[in-house]
Amino acid sequence: MKNTACTRTVHVWDRFIRVFHWSLVACVLTNFFVIDDGEALHQWVGYAASVLVLARIVWGFIGPRHARFSDFFPTPARIRNHLADLRSGATGLHDGHNPVGALVMLAMLAVVLSLGLTGYMQTTDTFWGEKWLQELHEMLASTLVAFAGLHAAAAIVMSRIERTNLIAAMITGVKVRRGRTESL
Ligand code: HEM
Ligand code: HEM
Repeated sequence: MKNTACTRTVHVWDRFIRVFHWSLVACVLTNFFVIDDGEALHQWVGYAASVLVLARIVWGFIGPRHARFSDFFPTPARIRNHLADLRSGATGLHDGHNPVGALVMLAMLAVVLSLGLTGYMQTTDTFWGEKWLQELHEMLASTLVAFAGLHAAAAIVMSRIERTNLIAAMITGVKVRRGRTESL
C-alpha cells in the first residue's frame, strides 16, 4: 500500500466576492475603530458598507455557483449534517461556505444593513437625538465586531481542520486542498 501526499485546487471565490469581502472588512473596521462618529465620513463609509451588502445580495442570485445563496443557504438539514460530520471526526469539506459559517455570514450581512438603517434614522428630523436609537446603533456595531472576531477565529481553526488556507483563498480565490491518498 502506497501513501502519497496530494493537493487539489478548486477555484471558489470570484473577483467580485473577494473585492466585496475585503472592502466590507475595511469599511466596518475603520468605522468602528478609526472614524469619529460625528464625522460625515462615518455616514458615507457606513452607507458604502450597506451598498456593498446590497450588491452581494444581488450577486447571491446571479453570481457563479459558490457565490449563490442556493449553494450554501444554511437549512436545518445542512447544519445538522455538517455538525454530525465534525463530531464523527470527518472534516465535512465544503468547497464553498460551510452551513455554520454561512449562518454567521448572513447574520453579519443583516447587521450591516441594520446599521445603515439605524444610522440613517438618526439623521432624520423624526429620530434626531433619540437616545434609544443611538444605543441600538452602538449595540448593533458591537455585535457586528463580535461576530467578525468569531468569524475570523473560525476561519483560522477551520483552515487547520481542513488543511486548507481559507484566508489565502479569500485573497487568491483558490482553495488548495492538502491530503493523502492511499493506493495499492
Ligand atoms: C469586519 C470584519 C469582517 C466581516 C464583516 C466579514 C464578512 C464576511 C462575509 C460576508 C463573508 C462571506 C463572503 C461571501 O460569500 O460573500 C466572509 C467570508 C470569509 N471571511 Fe470574512 N469578514 C470579516 C473579517 C474577516 C477576517 C479578519 C478574516 C481573516 C482572518 C476573514 C476571513 C474570511 C474567510 C476565510 C472567508 C471565507 C470562508 C469560507 O471559506 O467559507 N474575514 N467574511
Ligand atoms: C458599518 C456600519 C457602521 C458602523 C460599524 C457604525 C458604528 C458606530 C459606532 C460604534 C458608533 C458609536 C460611537 C461612540 O459613541 O463612541 C456610531 C455612532 C453613530 N453612527 Fe454609526 N456605524 C455605521 C454606520 C452608520 C451610518 C450608515 C450612519 C448614518 C448615515 C451612522 C450614523 C451614526 C451616528 C449619527 C452616530 C452618533 C450616535 C450618537 O450620537 O451616539 N452610522 N456608529
